[in-house]
Amino acid sequence: MRLPVVVLISGRGTNLQAIIDQSSSDFPAEIRAVISSNPQAQGLERARRAGLTTEVVDHRKYALREDFDRALLDVIDSYRPQLVVMAGFMRIVGAGLIRHYSGRLINIHPSLLPQFKGLDTHARALRNGARQHGASVHFVTPEVDGGPVIIQAALLVQPQDTVQTLASGVLALEHRILPQAIKWFAEGRLTIKNGQVLLDGRRCADQGLASGEDQTAEPSCNGASP
Ligand code: GRF
Repeated sequence: MRLPVVVLISGRGTNLQAIIDQSSSDFPAEIRAVISSNPQAQGLERARRAGLTTEVVDHRKYALREDFDRALLDVIDSYRPQLVVMAGFMRIVGAGLIRHYSGRLINIHPSLLPQFKGLDTHARALRNGARQHGASVHFVTPEVDGGPVIIQAALLVQPQDTVQTLASGVLALEHRILPQAIKWFAEGRLTIKNGQVLLDGRRCADQGLASGEDQTAEPSCNGASP
């Protein structure tokens, strides 16, 4: 049986599309539902086109964040997922919901965490003169963008880079590492020990795609022994 997954989105849904594109019969995970916080999200259309079940939990209908979290949790739980994936989900959720899905809630973030948590990561990378920039998939903990990293992919920042070029370069990396993280999780190969992610019992963080020139390399995790 394939691992049941619920995907949370808020916008255009290209990361969702990357998961859909991987979801052939030999992919070990299966999207049970796509839930959007935004009724206009383009990702909802992508989901429908792929024949997936969609739901909307419109954050604007809830004055209190706890009420939004409760409604979201109820909808997610109705699909009995073993993994919940935030793929461009632009709402901050409370500690209660995060605890409820502890160890089975992951997020994609457009920076090399712990650098540039939060918004506007590409502009901040440029302003800071970062030599490398990239994307991370991490387990979600109550600290925003602060949970244990599963996989990262990096690119070298070029002198001519702009926010737009960085955004598109990083997005292409996101589309590779998010399905990879889901696959590893579904294969039961990820564990968290002392706040660090292990792949097959070995240290995983900072060992994503080779950075710089070697962007054709397959995502790999050659971490040192724990
Ligand atoms: C991605 O850059 C993701 O890292 C960030 O929001 C963006 C969502 O893009 N959290 P998409 O909706 O998957 O196209």
